[in-house]
Amino acid sequence: MSTTVHEEAEAKRGAFSSRKVFMLAAIGSAVGLGNIWRFPYVAYENGGGSFLVPYLIALLAAGIPFLLLDYALGHRNRGSAPLSFARLSKGAEGLGWWQVGICFMIAVYYAAVIAWALRYTFFSLNEAWGDDPEGFLFGEFLQAGEPGVDATVVMGVLIPLALVWLAVLVVMVLGVQKGIGATNVVFIPVLFLAFAALVVRSLFLPGAGEGLDALFTPNWSALTDAGVWAAAFGQIFFSLSVGFGIMITYASYVGRKTDMTGSGLVVGFANSGFELLAGIGVFAALGFMAQANNVAVDEVAAEGLGLAFVAFPAIISEAPAGALIGVLFFGSLVFAGLTSLISVLEVVVSAVRDKFDMTRRGAALAVTIPSAILSLMFFSTTSGVYVLDIVDHFINRFGILLVAVVSMVVIAWVVRALPTLAGHMDRTGSIPLGKWWIALISVVTPIALVYILVRELIDNIKTPYEGYPTWMLLTFGWGAAAAVIVFGFLAARSRWRDPDALTLPQQDTITTTKGTVR
Ligand code: ALA
Repeated sequence: MSTTVHEEAEAKRGAFSSRKVFMLAAIGSAVGLGNIWRFPYVAYENGGGSFLVPYLIALLAAGIPFLLLDYALGHRNRGSAPLSFARLSKGAEGLGWWQVGICFMIAVYYAAVIAWALRYTFFSLNEAWGDDPEGFLFGEFLQAGEPGVDATVVMGVLIPLALVWLAVLVVMVLGVQKGIGATNVVFIPVLFLAFAALVVRSLFLPGAGEGLDALFTPNWSALTDAGVWAAAFGQIFFSLSVGFGIMITYASYVGRKTDMTGSGLVVGFANSGFELLAGIGVFAALGFMAQANNVAVDEVAAEGLGLAFVAFPAIISEAPAGALIGVLFFGSLVFAGLTSLISVLEVVVSAVRDKFDMTRRGAALAVTIPSAILSLMFFSTTSGVYVLDIVDHFINRFGILLVAVVSMVVIAWVVRALPTLAGHMDRTGSIPLGKWWIALISVVTPIALVYILVRELIDNIKTPYEGYPTWMLLTFGWGAAAAVIVFGFLAARSRWRDPDALTLPQQDTITTTKGTVR
């Protein structure tokens, strides 16, 4: 029989009440803006139907194995990202803080996009953008001038952004189960229902078939293009929320006897299923738009901000029952975004709490309030959209992908912890992590990621991103990516308030089919 040794410490850190709640929270984290506005366009741009081949390979060879690595780290070491790394090896703690820095950067701009979507949910009711969605977005709504830094506050962004942060603050203070768990238990079913309704509605629009043809018609020659493979791996990492501390943190709140491998497969496939659904819904709507304007689908397809805040408003204006489509689409963005944002911020809250041995409430306030202030300062101004675009581009590549590959190499080749972590997962996992997992994490995925990163590095040096002024790219792009690394190593040098923090809690004794193990 099993005995729980560290019940008190675990109760203090917080825990999800069941495996189901954990999986909903993990799916909530994975399904985010990346699924709805990034995947459809990335798939379309990179070979359409044939993109599914590199995408599935990236999911199976890198995404899910890395998700399981994150789970193993958090579930075995029972800590935030820095604590989990430090319990593996004190020298690796900086990797966890690097991830904390990345999450902080993502949280401050991600909240702004949710605030825009919140505003657009209401704009959909009266089609506030009139007949010029693009002019409305950059003019009346964001009041964006030339790229640069300008401190003029836009009240129409400031108010919804403050509301988003208020909601996040409440969730963070309420804690792991009552805040994060409860939010996901309500939001995720609502999100899936709303999005399914949107997809069904879009499929019945005239021209939907044309959009689906554009999305799924394979271009097999794309498979010989290395950029297509890079896009598939990049999409999987951001979308699955792996490599930047989120899944380590969430796994540390899960019961010790939970089947983590089975849970990982469910989360991985649920996220990709949602992504495919998003691709179908979005392209059906774009097909309608193309037919209505008598143009080809590629003339209406757009990515990121353009897709959500320019193409969709145009569709809403032209489609029958457009307001319904608008509320479902922007409402889904808000729900999907919020459940991801709280997971990103939880990485920071949990790390601060562990390091300074703080109460939940204290850490939640100490992290959320400064994040909210910075987010409001940078992203409710007339230059917010440019800063956001640059930070997002650089932190995804030279933050998430870089820390992912460095941490894999350190765990596999420096600390040599993969057999221990695989053993831990196998104690309760329904699918054994054999040698194939170790081979993928130690060789295959790092090689793929290094290749992608080198390509990205060369591309970004050769062609300055979107032609922004060099000083902006150096400050908010390269500078931000470098700042989180410096922060990571400095933070790792400070002392843990509780001197015993780095001692790994004694593992429960668990009886498995293989006998009693520790
Ligand atoms: N995984 C989250 C997303 O897709 C961060 O947006």
